[in-house]
Parts: sequence; structure tokens; C-alpha cells
Amino acid sequence: MIRTLLPACAAALESTCELTGPALFEAERRQVADVLPARRAEYATVRRVARACLAELGVPPAALVRGADGAPRWPAGTVGSLTHCRGYRAAAVARSRDADGMGIDAEPCAPLPSRVLARVTSAAERAHLAELAAGRPHVPWCRVLFSAKEAYYKIWYPAMGCWLGFDDAEVVLQPGPGQGTFAVRPVAGGVRRARRADAGFDPVATGFPALRGRWAAGAGLVVTAITAPEGSLPRRAQAGRTATGTLRWAQ
Ligand SMILES: CC(C)(COP(=O)(O)OP(=O)(O)OC[C@H]1O[C@@H](n2cnc3c(N)ncnc32)[C@H](O)[C@@H]1OP(=O)(O)O)[C@@H](O)C(=O)NCCC(=O)NCCS
Repeated sequence: MIRTLLPACAAALESTCELTGPALFEAERRQVADVLPARRAEYATVRRVARACLAELGVPPAALVRGADGAPRWPAGTVGSLTHCRGYRAAAVARSRDADGMGIDAEPCAPLPSRVLARVTSAAERAHLAELAAGRPHVPWCRVLFSAKEAYYKIWYPAMGCWLGFDDAEVVLQPGPGQGTFAVRPVAGGVRRARRADAGFDPVATGFPALRGRWAAGAGLVVTAITAPEGSLPRRAQAGRTATGTLRWAQ
């Protein structure tokens, strides 16, 4: 499923079972030495999947250690993203000369609990979801929207190095039978931001762009993926990039 959501410059793979071997790197082993076996297996599998993506791009195996901020550290010259949810692990990686960032996210294909929905959407987004549900009631639109925000965050954070709340971005979903596209853009004046210590921070003023992504629903999952085209993000070294920034979609 993940492959169809990403452009041809990306390597993207998924697994619906835990993978064993090759062994983790020492730094990775240390990172999960004290966690529950299920988390260790999830951590290891998604990294094996990611290393298979790196191999597709001709990048040698490397440790993919999770930083203190949660974001995985990718080998020099690459960008990528990991996701896992029950019964599903996926990774996507691209060369930095082809993309500035990648964000992928997988969620169970079920509506969000209403208290979560209220926390992660604006009134305008809830109106948008109601319109979508009237046309295609079988797609859990709220979950697609939530997943799109998480995918966006996985690009935002490595580029900007700071928090982005659910009310700091707005999603517009394009309907489709089992898959479609979406756009996410930063917005100012989130109600919750007003109450936070970083209330003065304006996500729009950062120049961080609106990004388009793709979503798919099926096999009990909602999966979203965003690729930030090369040259699109602020605050990243431009050295070694191609001039075009053009992405070709796989389909
Ligand atoms: C970080 C977050 C997006 C992860 O999503 P999730 O659905 O909980 O979990 P997933 O399985 O999809 O993704 C987990 C992977 O995300 C990656 N990740 C974690 N923190 C990250 C960060 N700050 N930046 C980029 N990637 C991150 C890691 O690779 C992690 O896997 P690992 O622990 O095995 O290394 C989520 O927990 C979170 O904190 N969300 C709140 C922020 C947000 O989404 N704001 C919306 C702004 S519009």
C-alpha cells in the first residue's frame, strides 16, 4: 500500500509480520534493551524494512537510532520516515537530492474516539469531515485527517526542530473510493496554542510550506504519505541538491 502513495524517487516498503535478522546495530540494541519485547520487535522490524529501503537506493546499512526527540537519525544524504501500528510496519526513504523530507503514518481504519476528534481538529475541519462523510460514509475521514497531520509533523519536526500542535495545521482531503490526495498547511491562531508557553510562535511566519500527500484505506488500515519536494523546506542546507525539485509520482 505504501508504495502507491509515494513518488518514484522514494524507496518504500512495508511488512505485516515481524522480521528477524539481520541483527540490530549495537546503538539500536542499547536503545531497546529495557523495553517490552513487543516494542523491541516493532522497533527492529521497522528498521529492517528501512534498511531494505536504503539498500534499494544503494545506501549501505546504517544504524537508525531514535533521537531524544523521537525522530530517527538517517544516514547523511538521505531523508526518511517510519511508522508502525498493529500488524503493520512501513518505512520510506529518499536521497536528499530528490526530497527535503518524508512523512508516513499508518493508523487503524476506524473512526477516532470523539474526545480525540475534538482535540485534533478545528471546527472548520469537522465541517469538512461531515461533508465528506455525507458523500462517502464508509471512509473513516477523521482518521485520514489525523494521520495526514501526523505525517506532516514527521516532516515538520526534523526540519524545524520544534513542536507543531494539531491546531497549528489544517488539512483538506480529496475524496476517493479507497484512496485520494490531501493538502496540509500551517495555520496561525490555534486555540490551544494560545494557552501554551510558545503562544507567540506563528507556524505560518516560518515559511514552512503547505504540502500535498496521498492517503489510502484498506486491509484494516489508513496510511498517509507526504514527500516534501527537494528545495521546498526552509532551513535546510541546499548543498548537493538538484535544481529541479520535480517529483514523479509512481502512479
Ligand atoms: C511523533 C508522532 C507523530 C508519531 O506518530 P504515531 O502515530 O504515534 O506513531 P508511528 O508508529 O506512526 O510513528 C512512530 C515513528 O515516528 C518517528 N518519530 C517519532 N518522533 C518523531 C519526530 N519528532 N519527528 C519525526 N519522526 C518522529 C519515529 O521513527 C517513530 O518510530 P520509532 O520509535 O520506531 O523510531 C506522534 O506520536 C506525535 O507525537 N504526534 C503529535 C504531534 C503531531 O502529530 N502534530 C500534528 C501537527 S499538524
